[in-house]
Amino acid sequence: MQKTVPFSLKQAQTWRDRFGTPIYVYDEAGIRNTVSDVQKAFSWNKGFTECFAVKATPTPAIIRLLASMGCGTDCASISELVISKASGLSGRKIMFTSNETSAEAYKKAVELGAIVNLDDITQIENLERAAGIPDTVCLRYNPGKFEINGKSATSSIMGNQADSKYGMTREQVFEAYRILKEKGVSHFGLHCMAASCSLDSVYYPTLAEMMFSLVLEVRQKLGIEIEITDFGGGVGIPYRPEQEKLDIISIGEAVHDVYDRLIRANGMEVAIYTELGRFVTGPHGYLVTSVRGLKHIYKEYVGVDATACDLMRPAMYGAYHHITVLGKEKEPIKVDVCGSLCENNDKFAIDRILPKADIGDILVIHDAGAHGRSMGYNYNGFLRCGELLMHADGTVSLIRRSESLDDLFATFDVDEGFSYDA
Ligand SMILES: Cc1ncc(COP(=O)(O)O)c(C=O)c1O
Repeated sequence: MQKTVPFSLKQAQTWRDRFGTPIYVYDEAGIRNTVSDVQKAFSWNKGFTECFAVKATPTPAIIRLLASMGCGTDCASISELVISKASGLSGRKIMFTSNETSAEAYKKAVELGAIVNLDDITQIENLERAAGIPDTVCLRYNPGKFEINGKSATSSIMGNQADSKYGMTREQVFEAYRILKEKGVSHFGLHCMAASCSLDSVYYPTLAEMMFSLVLEVRQKLGIEIEITDFGGGVGIPYRPEQEKLDIISIGEAVHDVYDRLIRANGMEVAIYTELGRFVTGPHGYLVTSVRGLKHIYKEYVGVDATACDLMRPAMYGAYHHITVLGKEKEPIKVDVCGSLCENNDKFAIDRILPKADIGDILVIHDAGAHGRSMGYNYNGFLRCGELLMHADGTVSLIRRSESLDDLFATFDVDEGFSYDA
């Protein structure tokens, strides 16, 4: 089975001539369609907001695009808050879900009127000291054990909930709400992200069941009416061509049933927030790279100009990313596709059957639109690549240029200034 690429070889060659490779290409129409689907799926819920996880694709043009469609953001750091603000967002459109948070970050979040989502009960004190206790506070719950269809919701990305560093225990959640109520908080949220990249359609409905039950219990035991339930991200995408895409509309309908049974039937109203990152931009981002070398030793290697510095998921998690050799379909051979880092895990594919590639061919690495460029790093002094936004008419805008040596060296020899001859 194959995955399709929404641009032609000719387009990719033109972009290579103009901007060089490697380069990311995001498909604007694809992102818009997916956001519309998510919003349609939860349109029955008053206050529904997709707070896009900025960490997935922290590029202002992407955040502006999403903000223009009514999305908010989920931020984990000061820079993500600043990007959100620069994209026109503030107040309840920003969920600040951080951990081991600095005083500066709390200050910035409160200044923007963001909803502060506390990762731990001890953070109440830190928040109060740093920025005062705001009117609205959300709490991140870690259920310890979370099963989907009778199976533990583990993943190579998040692991078991009981082994995950995020969130508070059930007892701590109750205690934290009690303390915050005493301190004058009048609006409350409840957050839980219990899986990552789940391809199980019952993940969100199961999470909803657990969270809505907790909402009812909090009302009953503490007299607190939780106004927002934030399901986090975690809805997966089919990285492999044989995997099936989730139907977000039917997921929304299943959550609706749980909502009616638990929330509506008890005379309550709760806004649902999601923090989808991967689901929104993942399938619509492509890493475009050129073949630089072909090596025949004990195995066959296709060397490309992208490295794990541009996309580290395969090196970090052994993650599968589909690869298309643009314009080629014949002569399948088994190859490793690798970058040029001095790290043997700098491979985008291992033992992959691909059409025979030649030097100069363009390879497209699929599903790189989330947690791709954003996880990049500069090992070996490699410069991270730029990003293009492809519009519906096939034209592109350069939304981030590739890094330069000046960028990389900007922090050296602060007093005297680092001078170099490139
Ligand atoms: C708190 C939080 N929200 C949302 C996300 C986005 O997850 P995904 O991109 O898998 O939807 C993450 C991912 O790391 C996260 O940590």
